[in-house]
Amino acid sequence: MMKRIGVLTSGGDGPGMNAAIRAVVRTAAAYELEVLGIRRGYAGLLDEETVELGPRAVANLIHRGGTLLGTARCEEMRTEAGLRKAAENIARFGIDGLVVIGGDGTFRGAQELSAVSDVHVVGVPGTIDNDLYGTDATIGFDTAVNTAMEAIDRLRDTAEAHERLFFVEVMGRTRGFIALSVGVAGGAEDILVPEIRTDLEGLSAAIRERLAAGKRASIVVVAEGDDAGRAFEIAEKLGHGLVMDYRVCVLGHVQRGGPPTAQDRLLASKLGAGAVRTLVEGRTGVMVGLMNGKVVETPFEQTWRNDKALDTDLLYLMKVLAR
Ligand code: F6P
Repeated sequence: MMKRIGVLTSGGDGPGMNAAIRAVVRTAAAYELEVLGIRRGYAGLLDEETVELGPRAVANLIHRGGTLLGTARCEEMRTEAGLRKAAENIARFGIDGLVVIGGDGTFRGAQELSAVSDVHVVGVPGTIDNDLYGTDATIGFDTAVNTAMEAIDRLRDTAEAHERLFFVEVMGRTRGFIALSVGVAGGAEDILVPEIRTDLEGLSAAIRERLAAGKRASIVVVAEGDDAGRAFEIAEKLGHGLVMDYRVCVLGHVQRGGPPTAQDRLLASKLGAGAVRTLVEGRTGVMVGLMNGKVVETPFEQTWRNDKALDTDLLYLMKVLAR
């Protein structure tokens, strides 16, 4: 029987992680479980940085970005010695369940930990990238998209005023989920994603055609991991042939902060509660996600091995709507 569980946040933070911690702590209280917060992700697990978390410790948290527990990317957890130490500390902390909130790196660590420890581990998808199979959205994605969209709305004003082209770089090292969503929602003229080879000549021709057709300002959204390079590089490569004034704006970590949207708070609340329920019911080695409105469980390995498809129909829609 589960008596005491740990919770940690790991990898890149995302708005809504705090709401997930709150949901874990308060759901655990409803099941009369104790909760130990582990600071700085796996780094804090190795360095024994912990804090007892009762329901009052997570008051006034649901609307705050960042993570109360802090987060880190931890190289030591990739070593055998690190994993052994983590397992020993878990035994010393007296926890029989662990909720890890993070992305694929976090779940790889959890999977390896499960192999050397008896602790039951359940994952909650927390990353702005939305790059995990087994959930329609990850916690933080919706907020990041909304933040980038607001920035694009502002850039559009000045782009129109000066009749300029803007290259706007959004996060996404390997996947284009943020770029695609924000591109369509922000009314972009082009969207460049890592999954689809970028044809720079075609892009340049499309920009010139739109200019000739009377469209004097344009927004091109670039995912940071696009195969043609970062936004500055792409702009430089195209610059001379563009016959229009251009600027580059890299949104960067702005997308990682700020109060979570209602959608992210709801998702975090459902999944934080779902993770505790999964532990109480005796299951381990899975991520809880929300698919078609239902909380579902996916084995860790599938979350990064199975391909989460990009909705390429959105690219065609963007092209139709950008004329
Ligand atoms: O994984 C989340 C993410 O924000 C990516 O979109 C981005 O490429 C990366 O983290 C940035 O990492 P860091 O915060 O270490 O610079």
